[in-house]
Amino acid sequence: MTKTTPKPRVVSGMRPTGRLHLGHLVGALRNWVPLQETHDCFYFVADWHALTSEYANTAPITGYGLDNVADWLAAGVDPAKSTIFVQSLVPEHAELFLLLSMVVPIPWLERVPTYKELQEQLAEKDLSTLGFLSYPLLQTADVAMYDGRFVPVGEDQVAHLELSREVIRRFQQFYGDVLVEPQPLLTPVSRLPGLDNRKMSKSYGNTIDLSDDAASVLKKVRQMYTDPKRVRADIPGTVEGNPVFMYHDAFNPNVAEVEDLKARYRAGAVGDVEVKTKLAAAMNAGLEPMREKRATLLARPDDLRDIMIDGSRKARLVAQETMARVRDAVRLTY
Ligand code: TRP
Repeated sequence: MTKTTPKPRVVSGMRPTGRLHLGHLVGALRNWVPLQETHDCFYFVADWHALTSEYANTAPITGYGLDNVADWLAAGVDPAKSTIFVQSLVPEHAELFLLLSMVVPIPWLERVPTYKELQEQLAEKDLSTLGFLSYPLLQTADVAMYDGRFVPVGEDQVAHLELSREVIRRFQQFYGDVLVEPQPLLTPVSRLPGLDNRKMSKSYGNTIDLSDDAASVLKKVRQMYTDPKRVRADIPGTVEGNPVFMYHDAFNPNVAEVEDLKARYRAGAVGDVEVKTKLAAAMNAGLEPMREKRATLLARPDDLRDIMIDGSRKARLVAQETMARVRDAVRLTY
């Protein structure tokens, strides 16, 4: 048998706090899917991370987890290629988190920019909890557990990974070289704005969801923010940074059509209705096969659950090996 170098390990997770939208597709899934060919991928439902902000309303979390995994599979994540698992079904994550917590100075966690930002953004929730403060530490455990070298994430997560590397270095000063320092693998596609040109977010109500039907997609696209200076179709418009054209670039495979629309938009020779109708048509053509697959998967929730439980069993085998090594390094083997 020829010896093959093992593929580098990739770890990434999503919090099951709602249905997935186009931001997840463009910012994460379109990165996750091709990585399966070149990397050994571990993709998981970060349900404990969901609890850090949703601890007062935990009932929907498992349902969202199932729904999210259906979207992953519909987008092309393949359980035969990747390990798909649920964080809370691998309780070793909590043990590694605990051991890491022994060496982490609290100010390191307090100065992670997302900590204060999210507390302010989600002011209606009491996020002065230990669980919320330690969010990036739990994330460190998630990745280190699988010797994750690369973490495909958006830019908003870079500070978390920076902290992860610092924590791992400090841990290793005490216990030796047992863990791998992770690097972010930034999504090549730039971030898609929401329908109103703010950041796409469920809390702003400006998303197009992967579960939206064709009629809702058309309706939402029609409401989309465009160049506000263009009050009539014969006024020249700006294409750069215009959400309608960012969406065309992300979803319309007909490059000639997109270039033609851009040229006519700049010249004041096309109406918003045509630009938007063509966008909705292109998006629906791309989303329809995913919608069908998603519906088929969700019609058999037990099969989906089996995939998640099976993957969690596989993940757990790796996690148990890591923890044996870590306990040994910390001198806690009896
Ligand atoms: N923090 C990530 C997010 O909000 C979710 C997450 C939890 C994660 N653990 C992770 C991502 C580990 C990558 C690796 O999107």
